[in-house]
Amino acid sequence: MNEPYQAGSTLVTIERHILDQQKKFPGASGEFTRLLYDMALAGKIIAHATTRAGLAGVLGSTNLQNSYGETQKNLDIFADQTIFRMNDHTNRLCAMASEEHEELLDIPPRFGTGKYVLLYDPLDGSSNVDVNVSVGTIFAIHRKTTDGERGTLEDVLQPGRNLVAAGYMTYGPSTMMVYTTGQGVHGFTLDPGIGEFLLTHPDISIPEPPKYYSANHGQEKYWTHGVRRYLHWLQGIDGEGHTPLSHRYIGSMVADFHRNLLEGGVFFYPGDMRQPDKPYGKMRLMFEAQALAFIVEQAGGYASDGVSNILDIQPHNLHQRVPLFLGNRATVEIAEQFIEQHDRDWTAAYLAYRNQQQIPV
Ligand code: AHG
Ligand code: MN
Ligand code: MN
Repeated sequence: MNEPYQAGSTLVTIERHILDQQKKFPGASGEFTRLLYDMALAGKIIAHATTRAGLAGVLGSTNLQNSYGETQKNLDIFADQTIFRMNDHTNRLCAMASEEHEELLDIPPRFGTGKYVLLYDPLDGSSNVDVNVSVGTIFAIHRKTTDGERGTLEDVLQPGRNLVAAGYMTYGPSTMMVYTTGQGVHGFTLDPGIGEFLLTHPDISIPEPPKYYSANHGQEKYWTHGVRRYLHWLQGIDGEGHTPLSHRYIGSMVADFHRNLLEGGVFFYPGDMRQPDKPYGKMRLMFEAQALAFIVEQAGGYASDGVSNILDIQPHNLHQRVPLFLGNRATVEIAEQFIEQHDRDWTAAYLAYRNQQQIPV
């Protein structure tokens, strides 16, 4: 960890860091640099609203539902609008997509377009806001692949392997922003007194051995045999009887992931057979899983849907879901092994879902 205000440590703002990273891409126009900086600015605005949430009348729910049938929180909408309005007029994006909107978000016709696509989960873990528990924002950036001026679904539905950048903000005791452009993972902490994100966690790599597992195992009765065996392995019951990992579950994936990234661990939200025609889990491939998979891989870890690498999945639907196992590489690979050994039926049902062109959500 770098403590920016300690003598002998480096004092680097996120702006300077992003500019320094840009130098590693000869010929870069700087558009991308400014896009990342705008995400940092959006993060500051959302942090300001979340830290004042109990006072500023932004707690509570709307009577609206998002595309998943989930009730939207006031802060979901605020965060969603903040990110959209920060980026709709900059000429850097050809389209956006948000967890809170069923369709692709076009750049308004009065503004010009650019060569990137932005995907985001404006507020992750939003059910935690009303009880003052950490939440976050997740974002991912793809490069436009089609020729026209405006972005299309094809530009968005790219495998995570093609991402040019991904990051998240976590609004906890401190606000942090963590991002990667494929050149390592770097973490910044917001000093609210000066309004700047300062480099506190350069070149993050997920430590070994892992300490924690994070899963909602209140749902265990719905899990497949392989996933239950995996849980028991993490607890040191099944297998060679290693020291148990400790359990931590916040229920905001960004915050759970952040802890595991810094301390070592695995987050998982498996698929199940509750409804055999819906063998997937809860997490969204485009708004949650791809970004964190890219980040964890850059930090030396691994993300899987229980069968193979999240980053290699060809998406077919903006809102498709994936089972997710995310964390230290070897620990995630063991989940794949348990599933391969014990969950033949589930795997067949899930792969049929993953491979179909018209994916229901
Ligand atoms: P979101 O608030 O963006 O809808 O995401 C909620 C997600 C994720 O953040 C969290 O890890 C998970 O839902 C919690 O689900 P359970 O309540 O089923 O544990
Ligand atoms: Mn989310
Ligand atoms: Mn959300």
